[in-house]
Amino acid sequence: MSTLIRYRDDTPQLPIDQTDDGVLIAQRLAEIGVGFERWQANVPLAPDAGQEDILAAYAIDLARLKAQGGYTTTDVVRLRPDHPDREVLRQKFLDEHTHSEDEVRFFVEGSGAFYLHIGTQVHQVICERGDLLKVPANTRHWFDMGPHPLFTAIRVFIDPAGWVGHFTGEPIARDFPRYGEQHVAA
Ligand SMILES: [Fe+2]
Repeated sequence: MSTLIRYRDDTPQLPIDQTDDGVLIAQRLAEIGVGFERWQANVPLAPDAGQEDILAAYAIDLARLKAQGGYTTTDVVRLRPDHPDREVLRQKFLDEHTHSEDEVRFFVEGSGAFYLHIGTQVHQVICERGDLLKVPANTRHWFDMGPHPLFTAIRVFIDPAGWVGHFTGEPIARDFPRYGEQHVAA
């Protein structure tokens, strides 16, 4: 279930609050300038759908998003729990970093957790099927796909060549509960 857990950035083991109400998640994230929407496929999507089918299923929302944000490029990433490089891929964005352009992800299946470090709070957003998250450029954040990653996500870019991580060198991410290894209260 899509969940937002808020923490003080100096108290990683004691959440301030949490919600799985999609409307409330969108409201709380809007307050810090982060976009969150829930989408539905325009056409049913087969379990073995390819990249073109996935992009076609969400074509209307993707066209709106691209027009709003000036995005030009989309692609699809898919990761399975038996991927031989899953630990290396998990480590790649597991420490706090920024990008010089927005990080926009729409989850078609599976899940993953973003941690957004804004002001004195960390917002952990557990995204699942149907969730769009739009993290503004230069936002400090990290992403955890968990030890057994399972997700398919559409990525939307202004310029994919410019989408690189700038690591802050802060160890903050290591103090927060990792995704897939934490207890999320019902
Ligand atoms: Fe990132």
